Parts: sequence; C-alpha cells; structure tokens
Amino acid sequence: MTQVHTFDAIIIGAGGAGLMAALHAERGTNVAVISKMYPTRSHTGTAQGGVAAPLGNMEEDRWEWYMYDTVKGGDYLVDQDAAEILARESVDAVLELEHWGLPFDRTEDGRIEQRRFGGHTRDFGKSPVMRSCKSADRTGHMILQTLYQNCIRRGIRFFDEFFVLDLILEDGIARGVAAVEIATGQTHLFLAKAVLLATGGFGRMFAVTSNAHSLSGDLVASVFRRGLPLEDMEFFQFHPTGIYKMGILLSEAARGEGGIMINGLGERFMERYAPTLLDLAPRDIISRSIDQEIRAGRGVDGKDYVYLDIRPETINRCQSAPGGKTVTAAQLEAKLPDIIEMMRVYQGIDPMKAPVPIQPTAHYAMGGIPTDCDGRVLGGSLSPVPGLFAAGECACVSVHGANRLGTNSLVDLLVFGRRSGRAMAEFCAGASPADPVAHAAEEALAELARLQRSRGPERVGALRAAMQHCMTDKVGLNRTAGGMEEALSILRDLKERYRHLGLADAGQKWNTEVLEAYELGCLLDLAEATTASALHRTESRGAHFREDFPKRDDANWLHHTLAFRAGSSGAGPVSEGIRFDRRPVSITTFQPEARVY
Ligand code: FUM
Repeated sequence: MTQVHTFDAIIIGAGGAGLMAALHAERGTNVAVISKMYPTRSHTGTAQGGVAAPLGNMEEDRWEWYMYDTVKGGDYLVDQDAAEILARESVDAVLELEHWGLPFDRTEDGRIEQRRFGGHTRDFGKSPVMRSCKSADRTGHMILQTLYQNCIRRGIRFFDEFFVLDLILEDGIARGVAAVEIATGQTHLFLAKAVLLATGGFGRMFAVTSNAHSLSGDLVASVFRRGLPLEDMEFFQFHPTGIYKMGILLSEAARGEGGIMINGLGERFMERYAPTLLDLAPRDIISRSIDQEIRAGRGVDGKDYVYLDIRPETINRCQSAPGGKTVTAAQLEAKLPDIIEMMRVYQGIDPMKAPVPIQPTAHYAMGGIPTDCDGRVLGGSLSPVPGLFAAGECACVSVHGANRLGTNSLVDLLVFGRRSGRAMAEFCAGASPADPVAHAAEEALAELARLQRSRGPERVGALRAAMQHCMTDKVGLNRTAGGMEEALSILRDLKERYRHLGLADAGQKWNTEVLEAYELGCLLDLAEATTASALHRTESRGAHFREDFPKRDDANWLHHTLAFRAGSSGAGPVSEGIRFDRRPVSITTFQPEARVY
C-alpha cells in the first residue's frame, strides 16, 4: 500500500538550491525535503572554485560590472532583470552564509578572501577581477555542509534516499509527487500545496562529464512529460579542464591562481583567442579554443588533449598569478588541495612538477524548467503553474543565457533558492490544504512496475553507453545538422529498444537496477529535447556552436527556445516529436555587442 504524507511545501532535492529554499520557506510553513541521495552527497558538494559576489574585499568591484560580465558571458541570451537580481543579491546571500557559519578563506585582516575566475572583470571587461569567495577548492562542500547543519538545527524534516518518480499535476495545479523509498521499495505519495523542484542537472546524457551518476534529470523529464515546456535545452556547457578521458573537474580556480594551458607545441594558445583575459576567458570560448588547437594538430603528441600547467616555475615565469606575484608550491597546495590530490591520484602526475592532460567535459545545463525570478514555473502560456516552483540547475531563470560564468551556479542556487523558498511560503499562506488526489501518479508507478517485470533482450548499461557516446560525438562542442539528425535517429531507436529491456533484479529492497532503468528513460527524453533544440537553433551562440551556422544571428535568434513534447503525457520515454515556441530575452541595460575578450 502506498503511504501518503501531507505537507504545506515539499522540496525535491537537497543540494544548495533545495536547502536554501527550505531555510527560507521554513518559518510558518510545514516543509519537507525529499532527496535521492543522503543530503550531503548532493552534487553541490562537488563545486570547487567559489561563489561570486562583488564584495570588493581585494580590489574595487561593483555589482554593475558583475551584471555586465554575466550578460556578456551568456552571449546576450541572459534575462537582464534576472542578472541584475543575481548581481545585487549575491552580496547578501554570501554574507548570510558567512553568518550561518561557512568557513570562507580569509584575508590577513579577516575579510572573506576572493580569487579571479573566468569572464569576471573590472570596469566592463578591462581586466580580471577577484570576485570569487571560496573555501580553498571545496566551496560547494562547505556550502552544502553549512546549509544542511542549519536545516538540522531548525528541525526541517528530511526524507533521505527517496527516489521521486513523478510530479502530480491535477487540472494544471501541482499537488505533490510520487516516490519510492530506495531501501524498501515502498511507494509514497507526498501531497502539498507547493512543490519545489531543485534536482540539479542532467549531464549524465554525455560520455565525458563532470556530473555525478545521480544527475539524470528525473523531474525535468517529468515536467516535460506533463506537457510543460523546457527552455534553452540546446545550451549545455563544456568546462575546459576535465581530467582527460574521465571528465572529473579540475577547477577553473587553478587558472584563477595563475595556471595556464599549453598545447603540444608548448604554446600558451589562449594568446591567440582571448588576448586580454587569456586563460580566464569564459568557458565556451576556452573549450572551443582547445578544440581548435586539437583539430589543427596541436594537441599534445597530436592527440585529443592539451595541458593544464600549474607548476610554480611556469606561473612565475609567465607572471600569471594575480598581480603578477610569485607563488610557491606550498601556497598552491593550500589554495587548491583537492584538485592537486585528484591529479596525483587519478592521473598519477605531480602537478607541481609536470603539466596534466585535460579536455573539455560536459558540465552544466544552462537550460531547464522555465521560471520567473521567484522560482514560479512557467507553463505553456508562460503564466505560472500554480504551486509549482523550480530553482538551481534544473531551472532556467534565465541568468546564464547561452554560457554560464564559473561561480555563477552557486550564486544562482543561493539567490534564486532563497527567493523560491520565500515565494513558496507566501503561496502556501494563501492556499487551501492539500487534498487527496484521485489516481495520483498511476502512470509513473505502472511504468516502474513494468520495468521491474521486464525480461527482454536489451540492457540498461548498453543503451546508456550508446546514448552517451551519441551525445558526446554528435551533440557536443561542435554541431552540424547532419550529425544531429543522425543523433535524433539513434536516440529514437534507443527509445524503442528501451521498451525491450531485461532486468535481473525482481526484488524490492535497494533495487537500484530498476531505478537506473527509470533514470535512463528520463535521460533519453532530455537527450532528445537537447538535440532537437540544438538542431532547431540555426546559429552559434555561447556553448551552442554550429559548424554549419558559425555566426551569432541576433536578427533571427535573440530569443529563448521553448521545447514541448508533442502528444499525450505519460511516464516513460516516447518519441512523438517536439514542437517549439519562443520567449523574448529581457534586455534592460546592455545591448548585444561582439564578444571580444
Ligand atoms: O571550475 C570550477 O571550480 C567550477 C565552478 C563552476 O562551475 O561554477
């Protein structure tokens, strides 16, 4: 028998956005957080280099410069009303974390220390600025721990290791979610006046990614399947410095502290592509530059990687540390302890003595569930879906446009997480109690049961690998119509094969096999939405680079893409085609200009 729980508000996801929302919704609202992972294992914990805020602790800084960088970094597809909120409210959000006990690095006189990050500049692009507040290179970990401890202190209710299958929408109103408790297989309905989706990204659709295995976009797919739009799905960020072949993130902080990238000829190749910001240009530009070097045969030993060089002798010779200061190995070890260890452990290289192989890695979804600036999810008519909220990477507010700046994911989840929490509390105060819902989530529960009984010839692992390689090869850094049409046909074939899966585990307890199968169905839907959106946009902008349309085309494409799944809603992946609509970009302050760095 399915267990039923009733709350005022439920939050799906215990990463930074979910916990920030919980802390801001909590007063006077009966709120519960439901998480697929134990909360402190959420992916926010892997964020490394920092969280931006124009505190001006190291040098002059202003929120207007930060807003400008965010808009230009996003290739002018950023909604500028949202970017202004981000830039202004980042200061208060960071100070709130400080007051809640986050152990930021400190300057000698006790202020929060800041470092440089890609695309963050002083005086509207003149030179890099130190804007990223950080705890060594484990800033996300510290944020997550601080938020979780504060949630526990306040007695917020958690349902850990519950896999949420589907959103319950009745007559266009969010009413709750259906979930399965992973340890027991018991199904649960959570009914609520308000539901916040804060489930993170879906980078596991790619073969080389910095994303954790859990990032399968289950609730983003659920929203799509319920007939609601997804926005700007074509914009997926490739972080320049993933560990070669593994995709594990080596923070941009390495370059903020003076590290540089070199090609197979030993050249600091960013001099060619971004003469002012060099290795601290935005990620889309750097990732594409790496790709161009490799295609020109200037990868290391002619292979498909270049080097990240953080040797103190290199940094000092190039005078690439902030202010041209000299650095020592001990200082770098203190500022970048985790990534230095990762290079030693995963690559077997001591980065104090030798450069390490890197390649771009799928890192962040700029697109997702469209929301307004208070996290209200926007439906087909672009009016809010009553009771439904989203924040963090699964949402598209849209503050990153076509390319997110490093550190802005943490700012996004703090600023818009807390705005969503407050908006949910306000909504709950005026809403009537959650009623039982007839036939809630029947489709999702039936799909789970169908998967569990599947005894066909296809295997989850094989289908997932085929999807991931298809996406990396054909919908990655470089895109063409031909490649993406092929990708769509492969994905649709995989969806057909998905109907014939064979699962071995028929048990209820810890049946991760059936949940992985469910996740694969979600990823297949999102991979199709990503590919179709990328095929639809016949221009290049930010992270979306089309070899067949290499220029930005403001006349025809300065708008957001909305993708809808055509046909009826349901719980499993279906290929019924995708239709598109558009949403204007909010341009309040900065007119589009050429992106020169
Ligand atoms: O490079 C990094 O530390 C990643 C930061 C981010 O994605 O914001």
